[in-house]
Amino acid sequence: MDIASRPSEPVENTQIADAAPPPAAPPVIRREDYLPPAWLVPEVALDFRLGLDATHVTAKLSVNRNAAGNGASTLRLNGDQIAPLAVRVDGKDVNDWRLDGSDLLVELSGDTHVVEVETALNPATNSQLMGLYASGGMLCTQCEAEGFRRITFFPDRPDVLSTYTVRMSGPKAQFPILLANGNCTASGDGEDGAHWAEWHDPWPKPSYLFALVAGDLVANAAHFTTMGGRKVDLNIWVRPGDEDRTQHAMDSLINSMKWDEEAFGREYDLDLFNIVAVSDYNMGAMENKGLNIFNTRYVLADPETATDGDYDAVEGVIGHEYFHNWSGNRVTCRDWFQLSLKEGFTVLRDQLFSADMGSEAVKRIEDVRVLRIAQFPEDSGPLAHPIRPDSYQEISNFYTATVYNKGAEVIRMMRTMAGVERFRQGTDLYFDRHDGEAATCEDFVKAIEDGAGLDLAQFRLWYSQAGTPQVAAQLVHNGTQAVLTLTQSVPATPGQPEKQAMPIPLRVALFDRETGTHSGEQLIVFDKASDTFTFDGFAHPPVLSINRGFSAPVAIEFERDSADLVFLAAHDDDPFARYEAMQGLVVQHLVAAVSGKLDDAARDEGRAAIGAAYGAVIADPALDDLMRGELMILPAETYLAEQLAVSDPGAIHAEREALKAWLGRELAGPLKVLHDRAVAVPYSREAAARGARKIKTQALVLIASGDPAEGARRAFAQYNAADNMTDRQGALMVLASLDAPERETALADFHDRYEGNALVIDKWFSLQAGALNPKVLEHIAALAKHPDFTMTNPNRVRALYMAAAVNPRAFHDESGEGYRMIGDLIRRLDPINAQTAARFVPSLGRWRRIEPVRAAMMRAELERIAAMPELSRDVREQVSKSLG
Ligand code: PHE
Ligand code: ZN
Repeated sequence: MDIASRPSEPVENTQIADAAPPPAAPPVIRREDYLPPAWLVPEVALDFRLGLDATHVTAKLSVNRNAAGNGASTLRLNGDQIAPLAVRVDGKDVNDWRLDGSDLLVELSGDTHVVEVETALNPATNSQLMGLYASGGMLCTQCEAEGFRRITFFPDRPDVLSTYTVRMSGPKAQFPILLANGNCTASGDGEDGAHWAEWHDPWPKPSYLFALVAGDLVANAAHFTTMGGRKVDLNIWVRPGDEDRTQHAMDSLINSMKWDEEAFGREYDLDLFNIVAVSDYNMGAMENKGLNIFNTRYVLADPETATDGDYDAVEGVIGHEYFHNWSGNRVTCRDWFQLSLKEGFTVLRDQLFSADMGSEAVKRIEDVRVLRIAQFPEDSGPLAHPIRPDSYQEISNFYTATVYNKGAEVIRMMRTMAGVERFRQGTDLYFDRHDGEAATCEDFVKAIEDGAGLDLAQFRLWYSQAGTPQVAAQLVHNGTQAVLTLTQSVPATPGQPEKQAMPIPLRVALFDRETGTHSGEQLIVFDKASDTFTFDGFAHPPVLSINRGFSAPVAIEFERDSADLVFLAAHDDDPFARYEAMQGLVVQHLVAAVSGKLDDAARDEGRAAIGAAYGAVIADPALDDLMRGELMILPAETYLAEQLAVSDPGAIHAEREALKAWLGRELAGPLKVLHDRAVAVPYSREAAARGARKIKTQALVLIASGDPAEGARRAFAQYNAADNMTDRQGALMVLASLDAPERETALADFHDRYEGNALVIDKWFSLQAGALNPKVLEHIAALAKHPDFTMTNPNRVRALYMAAAVNPRAFHDESGEGYRMIGDLIRRLDPINAQTAARFVPSLGRWRRIEPVRAAMMRAELERIAAMPELSRDVREQVSKSLG
């Protein structure tokens, strides 16, 4: 190394920026380029001197040359927006280091050394919310995926596992509570009102699982005794005043711990489990070992301020992060291409948990709805990627519905094929084999193969091929046989023009029209481009029920009479299939309508079939209200758009709204009876009362569509009588879409009533931005100037703008104002919070699937973003892929 190039003085941030301007096209990281780390870091000692606008960090790394590495004498430590104030090797200040871009390279002569680096941070100005940042007077960290390198220089990759010891000190009045991973081993008071604490985490972990919190917090404390008899202290830490809204989160945590023991044999492995709620947060929550950090919206809940949906979300996310303790932490990921190894599996685990805590049928329907609204469009657009991507520019862009939700579906298919017990043998083997390791998706598949006794050779295509398989089905009856012909095609996706046939597990049943029953469900695994399956013993043509329980994440194309769908909607014993038949009925009708394929007579006929099916659902005494509510939900506009190669969002919206209004008028009588019945059910958290609340607002929506004055009257009454947020929000949602005097009154009341409660004020923003009001764009513009709006809080930004981006009435307004609004947002938000800004790009990226006039405006908006002189890697990647 050239001695003259060694900096002898600490390097300022500005110098780093001068020395290494960000390249125009960020480098592409490829999965196939994986190399094991050259150096391992078995132990880390971190010392933090905490201050809101000045925190000093000393990191002491014991490093070993990795026998499996390339033998390099250079230790590469990643950094991002930080400068080394001092570098020591084995206790001595050294000059043998240099910067390569933002990385710190240290030359080492031996095989084992202690490398010490000091850095200084300003948490108060960290608006990206990655690394160490300040939120409402407290300090907290977010390190996944690559935030640790914003705290100190480190081999910031998940296959470097270290044991952490953390010491922190700071003013006691400002930061009375000091938390880190693992257990607190010592604490004490220092001089001048300072205090300190030392934490030790015995479990080796990658840097992305490091966490630290300092602030004025209070805990809801409880205990859990594990199946092995370990007594665990549980704390949920929140700001003083919020503790009364933490009991549901605590109950969910205890249920999660118990459930993971029973369902997966997984026991907690520390004496302490802390959760901290933070109001400025980019994502939902984070599974840091022993110290989960949560967005407040997934912790705080009480009937007054949280809807039933919010309660479910808290339970699901608490479970999800807890389950990561095994699927993610004990067994972690080798590299970020393997993200679905922990996320897909953990989403499946949280789905199964929530199903066990509530209604399995309803949970399955909800999960499929999310997949279709969020993941199917991803799979059919410019950002499509396999659940195990092959390359990325910015890993933060790959925390997607594909990696998470489709990843969960892929593992669910293995479970379906193996059966629950054999699948469990597979996961037991996986945890056993890879405990303490950084594993790959391949390791997981192999463990399931070996443990469950499945052959998954061809199944591995689900990890490598992007795109939603399309399965065309045909059923022919001849003699006493029913012959099912299936044909599959996987659409081309970016970088993957040709696809191979995938194994698709389909649960099927054939119904006898007369008796309304079937003689047993079968699981067929359809693994060729085309195949036929023969079923014997049918004197008459049966009715096919296919992909029951949504056994595979595919789209089924099966043209059939409305009469068959009406039959299944009424008779199918698989609740998902029943829902699917209702959806199919409406989808077929609306797709034909927007494609101009319906004359007046056909439209009347289609509506009559839908109306009859809805009427039956409203009246069916055998249905519980939670399930009734599911069956009453109309397919989303994005899902309708998915059915068409190129769609006109205006036409879809108009047709769907027209159907709603027709249903509201046609079923006015039964809907009012339903609403009245539901209004009479008193509040409780029991399923029956929750079901009543669900159908109450659904009935209201349809009543308001058919008769706005009657809808406004009922909604205002529901709003005023509400003793819980589910009813109040539902009523306000209906009012926000109407042009009625009650609208302003209720909105003003809601704001006054909940002023100062950030999570509820978020609802106030999103209800208005998501409304089907003709003036919605004006309302959004005004809300952006409201004193409660801020660009620095991601929850608030999402409350206003994500609600707008998914509201077709706003986003797809024919003026193009909606696109401009989202484009402006991305440009303004990017320098403040790139991760959150990048999440808005995919909505504009759908332009190729939209009619040409709107498409041109969407594309122009993307081009205006691309022309910005400075753009984050996050937004740059999403925009260039969306244009490319
Ligand atoms: N790993 C977190 C989860 O799924 C998500 C997350 C990713 C949070 C990146 C923050 C940053 O549970
Ligand atoms: Zn997760």
